[in-house]
Amino acid sequence: MNTYDLSGRVAVVTGGAQGIGLAVTERLQASGAKVAVWDMQGASSGDAQMVCDIADMASVKAALAATEAALGPVDILVNSAGIAGPNAPIGEYDDAAWAQIIAINLTGTYNTNKAVLAGMQSRDYGRIVNIASIAGKEGNPNACAYSASKAGVIGFTKSAGKENAAHNIAVNCVTPAAARTPIFDQMSEEHIDYMLSKIPRARFLEVEEAASMIAWIVSAENSFTTGAVFDLSGGRATY
Ligand SMILES: NC(=O)c1ccc[n+]([C@@H]2O[C@H](COP(=O)([O-])OP(=O)(O)OC[C@H]3O[C@@H](n4cnc5c(N)ncnc54)[C@H](O)[C@@H]3O)[C@@H](O)[C@H]2O)c1
Repeated sequence: MNTYDLSGRVAVVTGGAQGIGLAVTERLQASGAKVAVWDMQGASSGDAQMVCDIADMASVKAALAATEAALGPVDILVNSAGIAGPNAPIGEYDDAAWAQIIAINLTGTYNTNKAVLAGMQSRDYGRIVNIASIAGKEGNPNACAYSASKAGVIGFTKSAGKENAAHNIAVNCVTPAAARTPIFDQMSEEHIDYMLSKIPRARFLEVEEAASMIAWIVSAENSFTTGAVFDLSGGRATY
């Protein structure tokens, strides 16, 4: 396993209690970073844990203050918290589920990025990775809210990258194909089969493969690329 020099860095990983966020937390720690896990559910991972709802700006601000008090200023944000929501065609889609998915996946990205960017700008250093999805590029049927929210994460990331390009700050996102994590519990078997059928590698992404790419993107060595979309789709993406 390659390591990058993240010693002395403080990272926030949202959704770090499980799944991709947990793998990222462990990988960043292995490279020397101190990691604060912000999650709705209690976490045992990381060096500090904050119960936080990323859809709620007040909760995000409280988590940031607690993180700075415990570990110091934040150099790295990996925003992995997100939900898939139910699978249904648009005509039958639950309106409350639509609102919740947009609030967590898209507004949560805005909230967490906005909160940490101010300090990163004042210190002229920061690395952010937002976890989007191949669904944000391709649009998965029966997942309109999820696909729209992740397309929004891609657009937000491009905007944030350009805004901060004069600083030593990189804001990028990744677009994973399906990885077998607890998020699958929210989806129908039919939908999981559909996602797998679309992956030319003919297998699911391993969370360690996502963490490996992200560890480099949040390192100081990633000093040029910003506002970009890194592919993790096993060959599905065509752009
Ligand atoms: N697993 C996949 O197939 C896949 C594919 C593409 C993109 N993604 C994205 O990757 C990210 C991580 O997915 P995962 O597979 O690890 O999911 P997961 O369900 O295993 O983990 C998500 C974590 O986010 C937390 N969370 C949910 N809502 C939250 C909120 N409002 N505030 C704070 N924490 C909250 C959960 O408690 C959980 O610990 C998500 O953004 C997801 O959309 C996943």
